Amino acid sequence: MWFVRRLLFLLLQVSLCWGGSEPYRREVHLDAVSGPNSSVSNLLHVRAVGYSDTIHYVWGTLGAPTVLLVYSNSSKSTLNVNWTKLFSPFPSGAVRIEPAESILYSTAIAFTKIFEYDDSNNTANFSGAPESAFYPAYNLADFVWGDVSKTLNTTALSAEFQGVNASDPAKHFQNGSVSFRVSAYKEGSRDLLPPHLLYTANCSKVEFVMAEVAPRGKKSRFVLEMVTLEKKNGQKRTDSVWSIDDEYTPTIFEMAQLISDVQNHSRAQGFLQWKAVAYGDPSSSRAEAVPCRYHQLHNVSETWPLPDLAVAFFGEDVREHYNVEALNVSFGVADGEFYEKHNYLIWSAVLGFGTPPRDSFSTLVIAIMAVALGMPAVLLIVGFITMCILKKKRYSEYEPIN
Ligand SMILES: *[C@@H]1O[C@H](CO)[C@@H](O)[C@H](O)[C@H]1NC(C)=O
Ligand SMILES: *[C@@H]1O[C@H](CO)[C@@H](O)[C@H](O)[C@H]1NC(C)=O
Ligand SMILES: *[C@@H]1O[C@H](CO)[C@@H](O)[C@H](O)[C@H]1NC(C)=O
Ligand SMILES: *[C@@H]1O[C@H](CO)[C@@H](O)[C@H](O)[C@H]1NC(C)=O
Ligand SMILES: *[C@@H]1O[C@H](CO)[C@@H](O)[C@H](O)[C@H]1NC(C)=O
Ligand SMILES: *[C@@H]1O[C@H](CO)[C@@H](O)[C@H](O)[C@H]1NC(C)=O
Ligand SMILES: *[C@@H]1O[C@H](CO)[C@@H](O)[C@H](O)[C@H]1NC(C)=O
Ligand SMILES: *[C@@H]1O[C@H](CO)[C@@H](O)[C@H](O)[C@H]1NC(C)=O
Ligand SMILES: *[C@@H]1O[C@H](CO)[C@@H](O)[C@H](O)[C@H]1NC(C)=O
Ligand SMILES: *[C@@H]1O[C@H](CO)[C@@H](O)[C@H](O)[C@H]1NC(C)=O
Ligand SMILES: *[C@@H]1O[C@H](CO)[C@@H](O)[C@H](O)[C@H]1NC(C)=O
Ligand SMILES: *[C@@H]1O[C@H](CO)[C@@H](O)[C@H](O)[C@H]1NC(C)=O
Repeated sequence: MWFVRRLLFLLLQVSLCWGGSEPYRREVHLDAVSGPNSSVSNLLHVRAVGYSDTIHYVWGTLGAPTVLLVYSNSSKSTLNVNWTKLFSPFPSGAVRIEPAESILYSTAIAFTKIFEYDDSNNTANFSGAPESAFYPAYNLADFVWGDVSKTLNTTALSAEFQGVNASDPAKHFQNGSVSFRVSAYKEGSRDLLPPHLLYTANCSKVEFVMAEVAPRGKKSRFVLEMVTLEKKNGQKRTDSVWSIDDEYTPTIFEMAQLISDVQNHSRAQGFLQWKAVAYGDPSSSRAEAVPCRYHQLHNVSETWPLPDLAVAFFGEDVREHYNVEALNVSFGVADGEFYEKHNYLIWSAVLGFGTPPRDSFSTLVIAIMAVALGMPAVLLIVGFITMCILKKKRYSEYEPIN
């Protein structure tokens, strides 16, 4: 009885939380930052202004596509770019958020490489694939990126970086491209497109899209490599959050996240969060779901060449103050379809500051749980009452004898 009461109480709490509290809103500005030379201005600045703080996302394709996430405790902080410095051999300090003392947290994520391998056995075991199965990797720093200012949509708060490899003798990019689509949000909700990621006003979204890029084999599978920075008193870590509720992403129960692992838990942090799924066609239909997996984080502090945008913001000596770690996300599942089916791949992730959004149980699941758990409770209560009545009846039958 205690257990059932406890469960019912929990259910009530869950449903109250779910419908409770005003959503947090931010005023969002999305701008392409134009330099003196319009042909090279490829910086996108998203400013999400709260009551007393601002989350800045600065995207750029100077080197590998990179996003800087900067949290400032001033709602008036601004981005300042010195273009001369940015394009010089020493870009350190060319990108600044001012006032500098308002910056409470900053991190960066760079998307560095796309690996392609021939999965001849259809096992989708990327880490077990021999070196000989790999085609030469695409280095995203070698790509030529389209002008982001032409893709700005200030209504939808979105923009897109679209790129092709600089030299393409085999014409793999003749009809296709790789893109990073960025969206920002004024308030929390759930994405309309699969995998229906949950977001808040403290988040933005990035979609990695490979569209019509010709694969180099009939059984090609792809892997995306990213690199992230975290201040030296901490480092990044990967986490899986499992849920029994797959209403929004059928059969996908895993939510993965890249978060900060700092000694001081009282400080809020940046995060990247994604469902363990990508899609193999533009409509992101359920039938074309491509499960994805993340692999071990590696410390690449020593080896990895930092993109100019990261150096421009964090400075030349960034390695002394920041841990640099890299992560692979591979797409595909054993006995699954190959990229070649539609020559298309889309993967989405939410990037933000604070606590990563967490799925609460959906109404459907709550209803099912309520029925499943409520039924026995009702039966118990009905049984108890019946028993009481019957007992009383028996006593009353004995009464005349007394
Ligand atoms: C602008 O960029 C183009 C191409 O990179 C270059 O040829 C041109 O000299 C630049 N103009 C200025 C004023 O820097
Ligand atoms: C931009 O950087 C250049 C080269 O480092 C420097 O000479 C110039 O004064 C800077 N401009 C501003 C406005 O700070
Ligand atoms: C912002 O943070 C800095 C550093 O922690 C602090 O000195 C400053 O007072 C804060 N400003 C506001 C408006 O909270
Ligand atoms: C992938 O291959 C490696 C090496 O052959 C093996 O150790 C590992 O267990 C395989 N992983 C899966 C998921 O099959
Ligand atoms: C496919 O299987 C063969 C035999 O087990 C193995 O030698 C080869 O490395 C595998 N290829 C891939 C891409 O996993
Ligand atoms: C911007 O996005 C809105 C909403 O998604 C859409 O209706 C509109 O056509 C888009 N505008 C442009 C110029 O693409
Ligand atoms: C991509 O372009 C770079 C620079 O032009 C070139 O060196 C590299 O071989 C190309 N990569 C592939 C996989 O074609
Ligand atoms: C690009 O499209 C044209 C016309 O549809 C086609 O002939 C060509 O083979 C395609 N190129 C690649 C690399 O897929
Ligand atoms: C978003 O950030 C604001 C300011 O830091 C905070 O008050 C709010 O609780 C956050 N919202 C969510 C959903 O995390
Ligand atoms: C943790 O962070 C809080 C707030 O920034 C600070 O007051 C506290 O001193 C920090 N504790 C440690 C052990 O660094
Ligand atoms: C990564 O390696 C560098 C240099 O070897 C080291 O200083 C740093 O502490 C390492 N970071 C982590 C998180 O282990
Ligand atoms: C990602 O996988 C490729 C191919 O196996 C490997 O060369 C690279 O070092 C991996 N990166 C990380 C961060 O594990």
